[in-house]
Amino acid sequence: MSAYKLIICLILTALLLTPPFSSAQQGTGKGILILYSSLTGNTKACCEALQKELQAELIEIKDVTDRSGKWGFFKTAIGSLFGSHTKIEPENPDLSSYSSIIIGSPIWTGKLSMATRTFIDKNSFAGKKIILFTTTNAFEKEKYKEKSKDLVRKAGGDVVGYYQVVAKEEVDGEKVDRGIERMVEDTLTFVPEIKEAFSLTD
Ligand SMILES: Cc1cc2nc3c(=O)[nH]c(=O)nc-3n(C[C@H](O)[C@H](O)[C@H](O)COP(=O)(O)O)c2cc1C
Repeated sequence: MSAYKLIICLILTALLLTPPFSSAQQGTGKGILILYSSLTGNTKACCEALQKELQAELIEIKDVTDRSGKWGFFKTAIGSLFGSHTKIEPENPDLSSYSSIIIGSPIWTGKLSMATRTFIDKNSFAGKKIILFTTTNAFEKEKYKEKSKDLVRKAGGDVVGYYQVVAKEEVDGEKVDRGIERMVEDTLTFVPEIKEAFSLTD
């Protein structure tokens, strides 16, 4: 091989090993991805806080159905009750770079939101560690959590955690909003356990 060809080969090899071509950039499966859906912003705020703390990637699973107003709420509650799917965006993002995924969702009629359930049904989580993170008005019973975990298991995921933050509390016999700040505060208390579940402790 001539010196000229050798130099070309060395340059090409160097280029292939440089991001975005190297495995470091394409992902060795070590980064955390947070996928979330949120209608009124609670889950979004909590997932954004997790993203900063865990230096994770964040993808919103948007529900393209209009759910505003009383009719929107009614439609949402009925659709959720019957386990309906919805149109989401994105439907199939590239998950191949991530071995650790947090799925954030509000709870609607005791289930993950329609966008979240649709997303789980349309994607494979084979070989991935999954943590479910939900926001609700009241803490869920174990049997409902198990149903949500089963959806992820059916899609091949290994559920390594389930965390919940409540949006309401009882004050003088009335249910009132706890406020986003306290929800975010609660969310961040889960970070050490999340790191451990994803085997990211130092
Ligand atoms: C249609 C609908 C159904 C809901 N069902 C429940 C429920 O069954 N249990 C509960 O604790 N909260 C329920 N909630 C309250 C939400 O789970 C809670 O407000 C959540 O934090 C909203 O998250 P988001 O702001 O990210 O959309 C429901 C909310 C909506 C809109």
